Amino acid sequence: MKNSPNLLQDDSLDFNHFAASTLYQKIQKLLSAKSGRVNIALSGGNTPLPILNILKTENLEWSRLSFYMVDERCVLLDDVSSNYGNISKVFFDAIESDSYSMVLEGKSYEESALAYENMLEEKLPKSSSGIPQFDLILLGMGDDGHTASLFPNTKALGEIYRRVVVNEVPQLGAERITLTYPVLLEAKELIVMLKKQGKEDIINELYSGKSTNYPMLKIVTNRHDLQWLIG
Ligand code: 6PG
Repeated sequence: MKNSPNLLQDDSLDFNHFAASTLYQKIQKLLSAKSGRVNIALSGGNTPLPILNILKTENLEWSRLSFYMVDERCVLLDDVSSNYGNISKVFFDAIESDSYSMVLEGKSYEESALAYENMLEEKLPKSSSGIPQFDLILLGMGDDGHTASLFPNTKALGEIYRRVVVNEVPQLGAERITLTYPVLLEAKELIVMLKKQGKEDIINELYSGKSTNYPMLKIVTNRHDLQWLIG
């Protein structure tokens, strides 16, 4: 079945400002659509950082927003590759929102993943399938079609019960902590943000109807409302 991506933007002169303004409008809508807390999960990597650095200057009801991580590298928080550490520097440290690191000091990565899973069960409302449900999840995509830390040919791709797992990624020679498909697929809204260089072919293949080994394909085929913010 061939369909096309729901493009929110492409080829903008200044992608980061456009993306930040799109997220601002999206979050405003979420805040006005419900009372209480709005729960958002952020992916790591480089793309989100300049966008969040702009978004933090917007006038939002930050105290009603809670930010979670989509995935994390198995490193300490002060490591240069820590997603939570990097997003804290440009975003969390400047806003009045709750934010929750996946890696917990003094806990193993497995213990951190379990604790995160228990926290999601406790803090998030449940979907009709009984799965912790985010109001919005921001995804990225790697040039191997991975999303979150669901990499091609890794164990976490097949996880259908756990919400958060440690995923061994042999192609990186590293472990990651990641949300699993059941949680990603239950989000009320899903936006992929990426810079397209080197990834156009993947996007076209994802919407070609062909079966591919890209972990993003499961999201594309199950969520026709998936929104793409492409620079
Ligand atoms: C990570 C991310 C990952 C990211 C993609 C794209 O921890 O690396 O969560 O899934 O979204 O790798 O990364 P860039 O935004 O750096 O291209």
